[in-house]
Amino acid sequence: MYKNEFPIFENNKELVYLDSAATTQKPKDVLDAIYNYNIYNNASPNRGSYKLSLEATNLYKESKKTVANFIGAKIDEIIYTKSATESLNLISYVLESEFETGDEILVGISSHHSNLVPWQELSKRKKLTLKYIYLDENGNFDLNDLKNKLSENTKLITFSYAVNATGVIHDVEKIIKIIKSYNNNIKIVVDGAQIVLHKKIDVKKLDIDFFVFSAHKMFGPIGIGVLYMKNDLIKKLPPFLYGGDMIEYVEETNTTYKDNYEKYEGGTQSVELAVGLSAAIKFINKIGIENIEKYEKELHDYLLEKLNELDFVEIYFKNQKNKTPVVAFNVKNVHSHDVNQILDINNVAIRTGHHCTQPLMKYLNIPSCCRVSLSIYNTKIDIDKLVKSLYKVKEIFY
Ligand SMILES: Cc1ncc(COP(=O)(O)O)c(C=O)c1O
Repeated sequence: MYKNEFPIFENNKELVYLDSAATTQKPKDVLDAIYNYNIYNNASPNRGSYKLSLEATNLYKESKKTVANFIGAKIDEIIYTKSATESLNLISYVLESEFETGDEILVGISSHHSNLVPWQELSKRKKLTLKYIYLDENGNFDLNDLKNKLSENTKLITFSYAVNATGVIHDVEKIIKIIKSYNNNIKIVVDGAQIVLHKKIDVKKLDIDFFVFSAHKMFGPIGIGVLYMKNDLIKKLPPFLYGGDMIEYVEETNTTYKDNYEKYEGGTQSVELAVGLSAAIKFINKIGIENIEKYEKELHDYLLEKLNELDFVEIYFKNQKNKTPVVAFNVKNVHSHDVNQILDINNVAIRTGHHCTQPLMKYLNIPSCCRVSLSIYNTKIDIDKLVKSLYKVKEIFY
């Protein structure tokens, strides 16, 4: 329905793009915003005091305001990083001094590697215990497992709001209620990379400490990520990257640092990416996130209906109601990489493999799977082409 807003499809007429959970395509609004910034306003932000630099600084600040409004945060609680991955690594480093040997971190088993490996590494550095929260048969967290694993040593809990590999949306409000009624001081880190395009998020209502996402999974450019951090934590925790812009005063042997969000934004910030991100949010707001949800649901239901008709396909968590428009499946007895190859010959682009969730794959007892992820530029015709290509896989391998 919204396909003509995305120029890539003009240039790739045959493309059936079903990998939006990996990265979304960019609408003209975003491409224009980045281009126009570069031809009208480009300068180093935050430091210069001439007109062009002040314009770049203003655009950077405006972008922060748009992002803050988008997730219900205050403007000075938004930090720009390179990606969700960098945001999560940053959190794991700056919290280091808050942990003592024997403390415990709980991690959702459905986490992306970028929200799992940094905690493993922190656990090794600080001799902490890492525990996983496992899932029920529909891919939700097993809340009894969560309750059993919470202990007086639990200092931090982290999980994906929505799972990249399966599309399952976790019941985040319920999980947070359980954690807070056990101990209000446990730090909560939520990976929002797969949710922000599909559901309105309010970090204040959720009352979480950290929230991360990437622009490129919500129609924005690759190379800019967002880190929401509660203000009192920004003030209290140490900086991460040292250099220009994040300092207060530098002497030969000692330096004092800014005590606001700027202490996490050392170096020249990318205004063009910030402008691209805010253009993406404006584009989402223009359509309305409820309309995006509605359109995606219609396509998602159609996809499930069509895949359900294929007796040679096994779908994971197909009875789960609360999902992003993502379906994980395998063609029975065929490796996902072989499926990928046949689909690709037919210009159908899906993601296959472990989806950066190897512990989840192991937990599900599968080596890998196929993942179709939909967005507003997809149509039922795309899904019909996918199904046709899956029949070709059957023809070749059975
Ligand atoms: C749930 C989730 N978290 C984190 C990431 C990492 O995002 P990025 O590669 O933009 O850092 C991804 C990317 O697929 C993801 O799906």
